[in-house]
Amino acid sequence: MTTNLQAVRGTRDLLPEECERFRFIDATAYEQARRYGYGEIMTPMFEFTDVFQRTLGDTSDIVNKEMYTFTDRGGDSLTLRPEGTAGIARSFISEGMTQNVPVRFYYCGPMFRYERPQKGRYRQFHQIGVECLGINSPIADVECLALSYDLLSALKLADKVSLEINTLGDAASRQNYREQLIAYFSKFKGDLSKESLERLEKNPLRILDSKDEKDRRLVADAPLLESCLSDEAKTFFARVEDGLAQLGIKYTKNDRLVRGLDYYCHTVFEWTTTLLGAQSAVLAGGRYDGLIQSMGGPSTPGVGWASGMERLALLLQTSELEVNKITKLAVIIAEDVAEGKALQWAHQLRQWGYQVDLPLSGNMGKKFKRADKLGCQWAIVLGSTELAQKTVTLKNLRTGEQETLPEENLINKIKLN
Ligand code: HAM
Repeated sequence: MTTNLQAVRGTRDLLPEECERFRFIDATAYEQARRYGYGEIMTPMFEFTDVFQRTLGDTSDIVNKEMYTFTDRGGDSLTLRPEGTAGIARSFISEGMTQNVPVRFYYCGPMFRYERPQKGRYRQFHQIGVECLGINSPIADVECLALSYDLLSALKLADKVSLEINTLGDAASRQNYREQLIAYFSKFKGDLSKESLERLEKNPLRILDSKDEKDRRLVADAPLLESCLSDEAKTFFARVEDGLAQLGIKYTKNDRLVRGLDYYCHTVFEWTTTLLGAQSAVLAGGRYDGLIQSMGGPSTPGVGWASGMERLALLLQTSELEVNKITKLAVIIAEDVAEGKALQWAHQLRQWGYQVDLPLSGNMGKKFKRADKLGCQWAIVLGSTELAQKTVTLKNLRTGEQETLPEENLINKIKLN
């Protein structure tokens, strides 16, 4: 029997070019998050199944059909994390951090969902994200949104995305709305899709983001949550909107934005794009004041977001931004006697921070071709003449110009061009 050499459906090998983009995204996001006081957290890639099942919601797609759940050899039910928030909430409680609020966490890593794979949607994907725990002021929501805006700007993607926000109100507002929705959709039981019918009693809010055509027509006339918001919830959201206006961050209010996870309340948001086909959500999140308590911790408010690195990487490819720019050089050995000198130069130039290729096979023509293909800007050519005269021959691979110069002038010449 031969080994199946295909990567599992929905998973990918990340090759150097993509890894370069991932590192760039992670480094940029971490740097932006640090400016807001976030520190990095790494939680395990799997948790007890309960951590996700209880918090993300019985009617959520994730819990219902997307979790990678297995029984380990000790008989425990474990689940590969489908998202980061629940694990961080678990850690916040179990690591005894509940007395030291506020705390702000940045994270980056793989997540797992059994979804139908397509462009920008995978079964193992990667998120960067932030969670701010312990602040119940709407200003924390604004700051969280400002951080997402800063990140997208630093990645030069701000003009490729737009922000949608909504409020789900407090628990009382949502209970009130739930009842109204059940009353409304119950009138059309025969027309609802099977999925929406199942959600009707358990979580009617989820019907609002159904993709089914018929459902969508009914949703268009469904009552709006706005009519059920308590005064507190209205004030809370107004302060979020004010804050965004203060910062000049443009957004659209989308009354139908409900998000797919149960832990949200008050502010929810999504940065979307039209450049990635069906997978339009680039970065999404919101407030989750009930989550920590629902896991057995003290009542602690929270707000955060996560973004799919694959989607950011796809967007980066549509922009001009040069990722992790580094000047590339080639040191070319023209005659064997110069081998030692070439080794020294390659070593020295790498210490000065350049990426150096030292082609070791083929004739001169092949070596130059390779340097060209790698995108090297300069080739430093060394033979017996250069060795004897303590010079180097420097060829500009962009223009084809070539000159021989004293060794000590090399670095200045490279730097100046
Ligand atoms: P989410 O909306 O499920 O929220 O995922 C956030 C982002 O992860 C999405 O907007 C998308 O960019 C990316 N993403 C999700 N699923 C996939 C997939 N199968 N393939 C590729 N990318 C994907 C959450 O996960 C929440 N934990 C966000 C949050 C943090 N809310 C508060 N704090």
